[in-house]
Amino acid sequence: MSSASSKAAQSGSADALKRAVAEAALEHVRAGEVLGVGTGSTANFFIEGLAAIKGRVQAAVASSEATRQRLEAIGIEVVDLNQVDHIGVYVDGADEINAALEMIKGGGGALTREKIVASLAERFVCIADESKWVEKLGRFPLPIEVIPMARSLIARELVKMGGSPVYRTGFVTDNGNVILDTYGLDIINPVELETRLNNLVGVVTNGLFARRPADVLLLGGAGGVRTIT
Ligand code: 5RP
Repeated sequence: MSSASSKAAQSGSADALKRAVAEAALEHVRAGEVLGVGTGSTANFFIEGLAAIKGRVQAAVASSEATRQRLEAIGIEVVDLNQVDHIGVYVDGADEINAALEMIKGGGGALTREKIVASLAERFVCIADESKWVEKLGRFPLPIEVIPMARSLIARELVKMGGSPVYRTGFVTDNGNVILDTYGLDIINPVELETRLNNLVGVVTNGLFARRPADVLLLGGAGGVRTIT
């Protein structure tokens, strides 16, 4: 970490911690490879940092339209996922992450494209400030992207499973779908729940990233950035 970032991290503000982990992630960017880039405020700090090393990035795949625009604005070529068969590293934030590096994602609504890009990546590097670290996933409401016509159907199924879904009003995903932010699910087994939710007809993606967890977590706290694998 640079001394500026180190001081910022020690000052402990959320943005300073996000900036510190984003800067640490730059070391994971490998020359000549296609890079996967996530979505959200922490990922935005990473994109800011990428500007300084863009010569190392062959091209990038973006996990949202917002990220695509930010990457293009700093002069990084953004390619469609259909044009690539390998992504070396995917860097993204999380809403919650546990010791198994399983995550809840989708607070920014980009979960589907994030999960697709992550699934192709050899390594998933998660960047997060320590407020995201949890013993058990589920305090953050689980975002579930659904086909609009199935919204009420899926909401009733979620209630049967013990959840309290809340329709994210005024929000449409990049894929033209809607989100149910679901409170109260008891996430004892994240892999099992991720699979079960995937099987509900009308669900496009759920925000549990447990079947494909992160490989590395760069966790920012007052003492600096810790690397957890
Ligand atoms: C977007 C995401 C983000 O990674 C997640 O919401 C964390 O965002 P932030 O870095 O702003 O805290 O999953 O869909």
